[in-house]
Amino acid sequence: MSKKLEGKTAVITGGTEGIGLATAKLFVKEGAYVFITGRRQKELDEAVKAIGSNVSGVQGDVAKLADLDRLYQTVSKVKGRIDIVFANAGVAEFVPFGAVSEEHFDKLFNINVRGALFTVQKALPLLKDGGSIILNGSVASVKGTAAFGVYAASKAAIRSFVRTWTTDLKDRGIRSNVVSPGPINTPAVSRQSADVIGRIVSTIPMGRMGKPEEVAKVALFLASDDSSFVTGIELFGLRCLLDCFLHLLAAYVERLVCPLHFHCFKRTLQ
Ligand SMILES: NC(=O)c1ccc[n+]([C@@H]2O[C@H](COP(=O)([O-])OP(=O)(O)OC[C@H]3O[C@@H](n4cnc5c(N)ncnc54)[C@H](OP(=O)(O)O)[C@@H]3O)[C@@H](O)[C@H]2O)c1
Repeated sequence: MSKKLEGKTAVITGGTEGIGLATAKLFVKEGAYVFITGRRQKELDEAVKAIGSNVSGVQGDVAKLADLDRLYQTVSKVKGRIDIVFANAGVAEFVPFGAVSEEHFDKLFNINVRGALFTVQKALPLLKDGGSIILNGSVASVKGTAAFGVYAASKAAIRSFVRTWTTDLKDRGIRSNVVSPGPINTPAVSRQSADVIGRIVSTIPMGRMGKPEEVAKVALFLASDDSSFVTGIELFGLRCLLDCFLHLLAAYVERLVCPLHFHCFKRTLQ
């Protein structure tokens, strides 16, 4: 069977563990050459070893523009072009609204928003026309989860980016999309207390956390030709899909006068 990413080159930030690592493994299995990044050299070396072949590790922090320049200099030397950028690196922290500090805000926005923006902007000279940009969002951006406001806002900001980029990059045929997982069992989540994890799981219709490999399959869809006519979307994880379904149902009932009118549905999603 032909591989979905045969001959493609992908950059995945934050590829040393969790969703990024699972995606890097799947992309390589599907024929891609992958560049992964992370701040910790030891974890980066271990990830490169675990992936095995068709992979380079470039140490760096997405919040530091000089590190991103170094990343793309390496990509340029080794491969000379990029087909897929997965701006996955991100951090999450729970901080009650009253305790939000300048440091907390700057850390989350520097990594999650500034990091994602410049990861993509600096890839553009190497990104092939027709390429695919994927950002890692979160269902948190629309959930209103207590003490998660800054993280949620950072993920809402990147959803906005892809919508603008669909027009900014239209002439080059570059697609931009967001994958927005629900709770996924990664090191980031397992660092939370048992209480928090229990509370999170109780809100998931599947009754369990997702696996990083399940998000990787969605990233593969958005990276490959399977999504060749998909741009500007936010593909939500399961927890949110249920909400979205109820939202659509409510919209349908409200607008019975024109139940089949697509724009009514579309408006409710905006
Ligand atoms: N897990 C979930 O439930 C969930 C749900 C929705 C969305 N997400 C999003 O999915 C993405 C990955 O999350 P994850 O759960 O897989 O996290 P994770 O297990 O903590 O992995 C995060 C990865 O990003 C790297 N990273 C963090 N900050 C970085 C920075 N400033 N520069 C470069 N690399 C950095 C980490 O390596 P270093 O620490 O060595 O840099 C690591 O490789 C994040 O954007 C997160 O917001 C996660």
